[in-house]
Amino acid sequence: MFKGNALVIGASGGIGSELVSQLIQSNLYHQVHAVSRTLPSEPLREVCYHKVDSEDEGNIASLCQSLRAQNIQFTLAISCIGALHGVNDEHPVTPEKRLEDINSRNLDFYFATNAIIPAIWLKNVERLLKGKQAAKLVFLSARVGSINDNELGGWYGYRASKAALNMLIKTAQVELKRRAKNVTLVSYHPGTVDTNLSKPFQSNVPQGKLFTADFTVSQLLNMLLDLTTEDAPHYLDWQGKTISW
Ligand SMILES: NC(=O)c1ccc[n+]([C@@H]2O[C@H](COP(=O)([O-])OP(=O)(O)OC[C@H]3O[C@@H](n4cnc5c(N)ncnc54)[C@H](OP(=O)(O)O)[C@@H]3O)[C@@H](O)[C@H]2O)c1
Repeated sequence: MFKGNALVIGASGGIGSELVSQLIQSNLYHQVHAVSRTLPSEPLREVCYHKVDSEDEGNIASLCQSLRAQNIQFTLAISCIGALHGVNDEHPVTPEKRLEDINSRNLDFYFATNAIIPAIWLKNVERLLKGKQAAKLVFLSARVGSINDNELGGWYGYRASKAALNMLIKTAQVELKRRAKNVTLVSYHPGTVDTNLSKPFQSNVPQGKLFTADFTVSQLLNMLLDLTTEDAPHYLDWQGKTISW
């Protein structure tokens, strides 16, 4: 049986690190490559780790060129890069509750992390996926990036940057249908997952709706088995249900 390679980008986070473990356990891939800014303190023997600072486009390009030069072909790439809170320029960033909370420093942070860095990966990784074998390129997005679904408001920067990511995915699929027909793009909403990203907001989550990374990753990997380029790009939640863009 043919085995492609799998690539996890943003492999240090709660969902990313679980993805790396489950991809290894699945035994469906020849090699699993993991990209992150910091390497794990307890690396898995079977994983090919790459330490990359994605804020510099040149670093992304050189890793992808090097993988290509080694003829490493991927059939799956998943980007888990994203942020809902953090620090920018030594200032804390938290999601905006009202218009007065909007400022350019925070918007820079949200757009850089949730849309611009993923877009640079999208551009560079396409060459590693394009080929004869069916390949999937998944971005961890969020339901709040849906323009149609926005009833609650708030979280201006995070919402808008995930909506921008979704638009990048939709636009890229139009082009890939011409030049990389084997590549299916997916925007995935993992549900609310118990990771650093959701920690400050978990008190509002209804009982039974805070998922483990283990759960959402196995849901994702199962649903990927059946997805095709037909009707792509797919915008799916953890149940496999389509979200309206
Ligand atoms: N957890 C949830 O409830 C939830 C809900 C909806 C959507 N999501 C999405 O799921 C994805 C994974 O989130 P998670 O829950 O696993 O959060 P997490 O544990 O905080 O992981 C986020 C990942 O993004 C990376 N990252 C952040 N800023 C970066 C930057 N500037 N450059 C490079 N890497 C950067 C982090 O790397 P470092 O470790 O180096 O910081 C980490 O690997 C995100 O896109 C998030 O928006 C999560």
